Amino acid sequence: MKVTRAQDLEGLRAAGRAVAQTLAAMGAALTPGMTTAELDALGAKLLAEHGARSAPQRDYRFPGATCISLNEEAAHGIPGPRTLAPGDIVNIDVSAELDGYYGDTGATFLVPPAASAHEALLAATQAALEAAMAVAQPGALINEIGRAIESTARAAGFTTLRDLGSHGVGRKLHEAPRFIPNFFDPTDRRRLAEGMVITIEPFLSLASERCTTADDGWTLLSGPGNRSAQFEHTLVITAGGPEVMTRP
Ligand code: CO
Ligand code: CO
Repeated sequence: MKVTRAQDLEGLRAAGRAVAQTLAAMGAALTPGMTTAELDALGAKLLAEHGARSAPQRDYRFPGATCISLNEEAAHGIPGPRTLAPGDIVNIDVSAELDGYYGDTGATFLVPPAASAHEALLAATQAALEAAMAVAQPGALINEIGRAIESTARAAGFTTLRDLGSHGVGRKLHEAPRFIPNFFDPTDRRRLAEGMVITIEPFLSLASERCTTADDGWTLLSGPGNRSAQFEHTLVITAGGPEVMTRP
């Protein structure tokens, strides 16, 4: 969507706050031995306390309030009986609708003790998000986002998952502009415009660049032994730089 009135900004901020605070609380609650279903139940409770409805449930009938992806799972992991163990990489993606507006945010956590390669992967993914936000200006080509993400990943020795990307958001979880790649696509001539609401969500990977869908029909797997990380914000494009809706 494009923000055209003050009411839009207020709605997006409220939805963004709900998902950001839910994600932060879930990350803080994460402990070894906990199942991903228990973690999701906490997310469901917190979203309800904000008066927000899970976006994946509402828009896609996803079997969970939040997406929780463990280790070789890159995205859209279904919460369930898997337990968190030391050394795990856990991605939590929280998106929800509140009063007709959507917020979408994600972060990746390490269950200690963490491998140093995994710490480097998370740091590079956060750096990629910052680098991409820095080029998200009105009038800029949308492919500058992918260029910033890909170059940050490569400089740190990582790849990006090419099947996953950022997207327009606001009145639905996924709307125009559709699929903003995690890599530089010189043929993509779309431009960012003032007031546009998008996510930026780099997915960096140790080695793999492709995902396959698991037998459950939802979970995206990045390959045996591979690990990946994602950090995501919802933001509004403004002349003064992006306004982030999803800071806790
Ligand atoms: Co998300
Ligand atoms: Co998203």
